[in-house]
Amino acid sequence: MERLPYYQLLHILSLVVLTAHTFMALANPAPENRRRTMMITGIAALLLFVSGFGMLALNKIPYASGWVIVKLFCWLGLAALAGVAYRKPQLRGTLSLVALLLTAVAIFMVYFRPF
Ligand code: HEM
Repeated sequence: MERLPYYQLLHILSLVVLTAHTFMALANPAPENRRRTMMITGIAALLLFVSGFGMLALNKIPYASGWVIVKLFCWLGLAALAGVAYRKPQLRGTLSLVALLLTAVAIFMVYFRPF
């Protein structure tokens, strides 16, 4: 059975959910949505992590590759952003830019693998 496409699908779907709900929190950090957003982004971040490491294992890519470590930092930042959006709503503009940059860097690492 070919398992890689399932991991890829899970990776992309959880990425879409994580970024969509993070940008939603940044656009409208309403306290009444906080619990739900934190749950959804938390689960999506976990699935993104699991599918990422699943692909590393399936493709026998070393965990300590430079591009993987950079992606890990991007993942950490993205996973934390929704929480920060509710705590520091005055920084939403900057945080949105940070979210975009972290996403761009993580995707750049996949396709260029500079290290
Ligand atoms: C825990 C952190 C992460 C790990 C370990 C990880 C690992 C991986 C691996 C191993 C691949 C497959 C590369 C290949 O083709 O061999 C991949 C693909 C990809 N990752 Fe991640 N990733 C992580 C987080 C992220 C984040 C935060 C993003 C975007 C913000 C992201 C976006 C993508 C995209 C767009 C692909 C291409 C889809 C594909 O080729 O299947 N990843 N990732």
